Amino acid sequence: MKILVTGGAGFIGSHTIIELYNAGHKVVVADNLCNSSPVALQRVAEIIHVPEIPFFKADIRDRAALDRVLTEHPCDACIHFAGLKAVGESVTKPWEYYENNISGTLVLLDVLRQHGCKNLIFSSSATVYGDPAVIPITEKCPKGHCTNPYGQTKSMLEEIMMDMHRADPTWNIVLLRYFNPVGAHPSGRIGENPNGIPNNLMPYITQVAVGKRAELGVFGDDYDTPDGTGVRDYIHVVDLARGHVAALAAIERHCGLAIYNLGTGKGYSVLDVVHAFERSTGIHIPYRVLPRRTGDVATSYSDPAKAARELHWTAQHDLDDMCRDAWNWQQQNPEGF
Ligand code: NAD
Ligand code: UFG
Repeated sequence: MKILVTGGAGFIGSHTIIELYNAGHKVVVADNLCNSSPVALQRVAEIIHVPEIPFFKADIRDRAALDRVLTEHPCDACIHFAGLKAVGESVTKPWEYYENNISGTLVLLDVLRQHGCKNLIFSSSATVYGDPAVIPITEKCPKGHCTNPYGQTKSMLEEIMMDMHRADPTWNIVLLRYFNPVGAHPSGRIGENPNGIPNNLMPYITQVAVGKRAELGVFGDDYDTPDGTGVRDYIHVVDLARGHVAALAAIERHCGLAIYNLGTGKGYSVLDVVHAFERSTGIHIPYRVLPRRTGDVATSYSDPAKAARELHWTAQHDLDDMCRDAWNWQQQNPEGF
């Protein structure tokens, strides 16, 4: 299939393009580069041995630009990664988050249907479960209260897409709820490239390891978890990328509206991750316990059985692989792209 990949220059998008090519698909990327570098796409091209990845510097809020992309590159499906994703920033800039993520997606959905491209995979998030009602989290777990505008945009966009599918069942829409994507391509050529101080655990750890930060702050050690620190379901970004290929196969089977958790099903605490990183790299990570971070939940990990059953997809990489590959990327690219 030919796939429009919005946000394809970003962390998850760039890894997904590689897996799409490996599975025999073709892509065209639309990204405004507000949180990414065109170098990522050059490196993807190197990895998959093609001269270049078809790319438009386009904003998903720009109807004319999207129309041009789809006129020049008619597509069978869209994988929609484009969006702003910093939880903390979304609290201070709610309008910017709603405008970018919601208005942008509304424009995209309209242009897609005008071009007869009614097959869509959407990057949703485990954040829609809020403080989860059940652990491990199945897709039947009710959605919860999102404590920040970023999470609200994911939850609202899911609702919008469900309504679109109800009104026009010729759409095939797969909502993928990612747990905690980490790691990097094993080549070390592409990876996560946060601006400024990393918000997320793994990039913070790798920046401590490379000497950019003095120590890790552990946000709370008094949660109701085995060691008191927060428990999450970390998933290697290459496994996550392959989940999109599996979701495309479901679209080819005319799946209608479907929701899948993409996680490993295993929960690791902050200190488990620190120790796994130390074990797999041999580097000591100094840390200090700080107060809890507002909005964090104690425990979040998936039941990934539905994706295994229906998409024939399961995560293959373990936590040591995630640490090794995140470190390989950081070491080779201490300043990012
Ligand atoms: P990322 O920031 O690396 O990639 C997002 C890409 O979208 C960037 O390249 C950015 O330039 C682009 N973009 C943003 N707004 C745009 C716009 N208006 N028009 C065109 N391009 C635009 O983030 P990522 O980690 O690769 O995440 C991809 C998607 O997955 C996002 O929707 C994110 O919310 C979602 N997600 C990420 C995580 C995570 O922990 N990384 C977890 C759950 C869900
Ligand atoms: N943590 C620290 N110190 C840090 C960073 C994080 O102790 O410097 C802790 C957090 O308190 C949490 C765990 O490490 O217990 C993971 O935190 P992350 O920020 O890496 O990830 P979150 O689970 O908070 O959120 C991430 C994304 C969200 C997404 C969610 C579910 O940032 O966008 O996963 O997919 F919604």
